[in-house]
Amino acid sequence: MIRSLIALSLVAFVASSVVGSALSSAPVAAPPQNSIKEVMKLAHKDGLLKKVVDGEATDAEKQQLLDLYIDMLEGTPEKGEQTEWLMAAGRSVVAAAKVVVGREGAVDELKEATNCKACHDVFK
Ligand code: HEC
Repeated sequence: MIRSLIALSLVAFVASSVVGSALSSAPVAAPPQNSIKEVMKLAHKDGLLKKVVDGEATDAEKQQLLDLYIDMLEGTPEKGEQTEWLMAAGRSVVAAAKVVVGREGAVDELKEATNCKACHDVFK
């Protein structure tokens, strides 16, 4: 009895991981909510990044910045290589995430990752 229960749960486990991996190979991610242009306005022109860098942002605002940078990463710039874009925008995403979880040195990393001119020279 116990043996068949174990066998049964093994079958269930294998079945669920097969279904799980079939699902995860499907395109499940929703498209970005904000274009790169909108992210520039909301995160940069409106001063959200500055607030985070100056240490004046609430936890919700730090999360909002991370959320916007995820949209930025998933957007496609008109100029530059897609793989280089993923690396450049990815640095901002990782740095903003480190700020959210409170990693040491995260704000400095964020400042460096969001260098306006360095990114605009290549992708804008
Ligand atoms: C990771 C790359 C990246 C970083 C970092 C970045 N930008 Fe941008 N920015 C872009 C791209 C790409 C565009 C062009 C977007 C478009 O027109 O579709 C842009 C466009 C803009 C625009 C014009 C938006 C419009 O309405 O046409 C402004 C303003 C702007 N950025 C401000 C900033 C400021 C300020 C910073 C620094 C705090 C900054 N950006 C950092 C990639 C970046």
